[in-house]
Amino acid sequence: MKTIAVAFTGASGLPYGLRLVECLIGAGITVHLLYSQAAQIVARQEMDFTLPGRAADAQTELTARFNATAGQLKVHGLQEWFAPLASGSNPPDAYVICPCTMGTLAKIAAGMADDLITRAADVVLKEGRKLIIVPRETPFSIIHLENMLRLARAGAVILPPNPGFYQHPASVSDMIDFVVARILDQLQVPHQLVPRWGAE
Ligand SMILES: Cc1cc2nc3c(=O)[nH]c(=O)nc-3n(C[C@H](O)[C@H](O)[C@H](O)COP(=O)(O)O)c2cc1C
Repeated sequence: MKTIAVAFTGASGLPYGLRLVECLIGAGITVHLLYSQAAQIVARQEMDFTLPGRAADAQTELTARFNATAGQLKVHGLQEWFAPLASGSNPPDAYVICPCTMGTLAKIAAGMADDLITRAADVVLKEGRKLIIVPRETPFSIIHLENMLRLARAGAVILPPNPGFYQHPASVSDMIDFVVARILDQLQVPHQLVPRWGAE
């Protein structure tokens, strides 16, 4: 896989999304990044991290943060309808929404494509590319569960951020890597974030 899109929405769990982008960049993949306004609020609240209001500023800052090569990380504004993600003629190989709010989940399940985050999901589903949704809420209501079922039936992978404890995580970073490892496996991106069960 060469081009992967990632969206951060305003659910708790931005550390998963940032670590995912770091790993994808480290693996030499071109990443298209989107984030909602609510994701900016959550970034400040849970990570003391500022996601800039302007996509161009975010691209500069995150390219430096992740040591990406020139052009490897492209950040798009939510009304940037000329971005490749907006069209079925140029979809990414896969798209991960991490973390995904119940609001964004509901919009995608209903076929609403009113910004680039939801339009890109619509495009990826209709073009038969991989859509991975990392939903975060607890508990789930019947509405949330039905929306997830609808998306799974449409071909999306529903991958909740549920770290396992059987590998004895020693830190929050270990728990984040557990979830990111499962996402990278879905994307068939090689990694060594956590030991594999049963491996010597
Ligand atoms: C600190 C914080 C944490 C939030 N956590 C969640 C969450 O885990 N799941 C969720 O569905 N919404 C959560 N929300 C609410 C969403 O951000 C809100 O519904 C927002 O409108 C979602 O917009 P978006 O889907 O465009 O990002 C949280 C909001 C804040 C400020």
